[in-house]
Amino acid sequence: MSSKAIILVGGGTRGTRFRPLSLDIPKVLFPVAGRPIISHALSALTTVPSIKEVLLIGFYDDSVFKDFLAEASREFPQFSIKYLREYRALGTAGGLYHFRDAILKGHPYRLFVIHADVCSSFPLAEMLSMFEEKEAKAVILGTRVEPQFASNFGCIVMDSATKKVIHYVEKPESHISNLINGGVYLFDRSIFDVIAAARNARAEQARDDPSEDEDAQEVLRLEQDILVRLAQADGFYVYETRGFWRQIKTAGSAVPANALYLQKLFQTDIDAPHLARASATIVPPVYIDPTASVDPTAKLGPNVSVGPRARVGAGARVKEAILLEDTEVKHDACVLYSILARGVKVGAWARVEGSHITPADHSTVIFKNGVRVQSVSILAQDVVVGDEVRIQNCVVLPHKEIKSDVENEVIM
Ligand code: GTP
Repeated sequence: MSSKAIILVGGGTRGTRFRPLSLDIPKVLFPVAGRPIISHALSALTTVPSIKEVLLIGFYDDSVFKDFLAEASREFPQFSIKYLREYRALGTAGGLYHFRDAILKGHPYRLFVIHADVCSSFPLAEMLSMFEEKEAKAVILGTRVEPQFASNFGCIVMDSATKKVIHYVEKPESHISNLINGGVYLFDRSIFDVIAAARNARAEQARDDPSEDEDAQEVLRLEQDILVRLAQADGFYVYETRGFWRQIKTAGSAVPANALYLQKLFQTDIDAPHLARASATIVPPVYIDPTASVDPTAKLGPNVSVGPRARVGAGARVKEAILLEDTEVKHDACVLYSILARGVKVGAWARVEGSHITPADHSTVIFKNGVRVQSVSILAQDVVVGDEVRIQNCVVLPHKEIKSDVENEVIM
């Protein structure tokens, strides 16, 4: 029986917390562990042989995905991959409903729906087994977070014996559970009946409230409008993963996502292409694009990705960082817990630094001397850092030249 997958990719007006990195590249195409964020989800989908078609649904211009679709079709020949564009942001369920004919074409029996901004071990085969075993209508991926972070997410209350979802609240005001929505779902076709019912309820409400904008009625969110309904009916289960999981919301969260995907690659395929071998100067996992040049005396890792044509000079130190294409880290410079966007140049003996964070933190904000700052330093496209300059916990907007030390600032 055939299945389909839908990846919700959003659009230019969403994912604003990913700025300034999303100013020149859509968040979902940003490379972590050497590959666009959505490629990791596509790789995971290859573990489900019944999936033949993957639909990316979003509201970016069609041109945004043109090159990616050509590359992805070569990398994943088992899938037909298409981009379907919403005429405006229709919400995570509104887009599904709008494209229901395209989604249901070929009569798929099951539909995987994945939020593109999730970094996960994607236990899709396990979700599928649960779906079949329980004869479910819907299975949601659940993951546990520290209780203090739970209210930033959709929270799930389940019956621990049956794994049935009995209650779902998006970003609750008080603590109800630390089992949260992992942004991956498996539905059967009846999901469209549930969305249709939510739409009708919305239309009814609008009849009573003429101030409601007619266009807004089209906007439906899986989390608020659909999952709450599913939890009130039978057949909705949660698969609780013990694998890694992290959301990619802020630009800084690309650093822990990069670390998680590199570690996964290192653990599952130590000889994977472009993973650098451990040595006195390489602390794995480190990914180096074949067109990059790294001086043998530079020390890299752990959790470093070096992009195409990047250059790392003698005696440099790079750790927990992403260096995108055409970046340069000159000799004896140090880049820690940071992201260098395309074309960034870091001078000799300079230091670009963030603060230590762990993936379990689920936040890229820290407090230093009582001030809220970004834990990761982010230098946007073509920023130039002078020799011997120190940048600490800063976000620097594109094309700036930094000539003196800066700390805990957003430099515009
Ligand atoms: P918050 O987490 O509430 O700040 O919102 P968000 O837009 O950053 O994320 P949300 O959890 O709402 O979205 C989950 C995924 O769905 C992300 O990958 C978004 O890019 C995507 N998404 C959000 N809104 C839409 C939409 O209107 N249409 C489509 N196709 N995708 C969307």
